[in-house]
Formats: sequence, C-alpha cells, structure tokens
Amino acid sequence: MAELIGGCGTSHVPSIGIALDRGLQDTPDWKPFFDGYIPAKEWIAEQKPDIAVVIFNDHGNAFFLDRVPTLALGVAEEYQIIDEGWGKRDIPAFKGAADFSWHLADAMVEGHFDPLICREIELDHGIQVPMELFFGRPAEWPVKIVPIFVNTVQYPIPTPQRMWELGQLLRKAIESWPGNERIVVFGTGGLTHQLQGARAGFMNRDADKAWLAEIGPNPEKYRGWTREQFVETFGSEGAELIMWLVMRGCMDAEVRTVMSHYYAPASMTGAGMVVLENEGAA
Ligand code: DHB
Ligand code: FE
Repeated sequence: MAELIGGCGTSHVPSIGIALDRGLQDTPDWKPFFDGYIPAKEWIAEQKPDIAVVIFNDHGNAFFLDRVPTLALGVAEEYQIIDEGWGKRDIPAFKGAADFSWHLADAMVEGHFDPLICREIELDHGIQVPMELFFGRPAEWPVKIVPIFVNTVQYPIPTPQRMWELGQLLRKAIESWPGNERIVVFGTGGLTHQLQGARAGFMNRDADKAWLAEIGPNPEKYRGWTREQFVETFGSEGAELIMWLVMRGCMDAEVRTVMSHYYAPASMTGAGMVVLENEGAA
C-alpha cells in the first residue's frame, strides 16, 4: 500500500510567487518569511515523497463565478500553469499522478463525495505557491500531484466537518492503493485575510497563532465549527483554512508538529505553515 508520510499546511498568497519571480527572497521585507520555509524544504527533500495530494482553491481563474463546483479532482497527466493576468510565470507544468487520481475519484464517489472530474485544469497560485515554497524552483517538479479543488470562493462553501470527513476518506483511499508510493498531503490557503467588503484588510494574529498551534494536537476545536465561525474568525477568504482540515483529517489521531512558521502580514494576509507527522493509529 501507499504510505502517507506527512501532512503540510501552508498559505498560498500570490505575492509570494511574485517575490520569487523578482528575486526578492533576501530583501528585508521577505527574508524572515522565506527563511521560515528552509526547514520545510529540507524536511520534504529528506522525505522524498512521490506524490503530493494538494487540497486547494482556484480564485476565479480556472472556474469563474458562473460555474463553481463544490469539489473537483484533477485526473490529468500534466497541468499547465494558469496566467492570472500578469503573464505566464516561468515555472514548469505540474506532472499528474493520473492513475492514483482515478483511484481517488473512485474512492470519493464510492464514499458519497462526488467531485467534478477534470481531465484538464490549469492551476493558479493556490497550488503554484505551496509547491514553490516546499520544492523551490526546480527545472522539473520532483513529485507528481493530485489537485483536489474545494470551493472556498462562492457561497455556500462546504462545512468544516465535511472537509474532515473527506480527509478521513482520502486516508483510507491512500492505504487501499496497491502502489508503494510515498504520499504527502497539502492543505493550502489562509491564514486570516479578507480582501473585500466592509472588513477588507481584516487580520487576526492571535487566531492565526492558535490555529498553527492547535491544528496538530487539537483539530476537534475547529472541525465542529460552522462556516460562519470560520468567516468571522479568519475572514471571508481566510475561511480557505477549511482545506487544512482535509489534510488534518488524513492524518492519525495523534500527530507530531514537526515545525510551524508564522509571518504577518504578507500582502494583507497572515501567512502560516505547519508540517505534521503521524504518531499513532489512524
Ligand atoms: C491574496 C490572495 C489569496 O488567494 C490568498 O489566499 C491570500 C491573499 C491576495 O491577493 O493578497
Ligand atoms: Fe487564496
């Protein structure tokens, strides 16, 4: 069976990608942020995963508001980098783990989660930035990916509890895959931010730090929350954090927080990262 080697959570703020494009990693503004990811890059290089299952949201790029699936799953051999309006970024296309994607598609439908199946989908900063943060700027990505899209953009977003259950289902699906690949799961998005409306610019450092401290040892705190509690606590876009619950739901009941990092603000966002390893029974 395939092996789940860890779970990672990370923000995906687009300005991080732009900072990399412009070579700004060592400037005073950005250095403390990027330095926090050095141990994460070392961890993943040592772990040598074969496949990254990346839970992400698109931001009106692949899906516009005229049609937004609640869940979607990529089953392609390759995913192109989407142009978000500033020109195509100079990073390689992602390689897809197509066979494993089809296995997850089947497991999701069998378990009563019914994703939109995407034979083709271009991927935006929701995936680009997490991959760059953990794998740097390789000529070719060292892992294949399975992109799993969650609607966090348009009302009604799915419930936190549903995200947790999706994680539990994905864990079983990983363990029923006959291959011997090493799998890492990413939950992306957050932390606190709100880009629109009356609370535009909203951030809450205390809520962010509590999330990073507790998502490993105490996910029960959050998985029973309502969607409204996520929006109120983390901001309308900070509610992207429900996607970290998919990652956490994949992991054992007991996990070890190997590292975490926080930097704020990145643009108008609390930017956080956590790496979890399994400690016991699933
Ligand atoms: C921004 C966009 C995002 O998708 C996000 O998760 C955080 C910040 C932004 O445009 O600043
Ligand atoms: Fe986002």
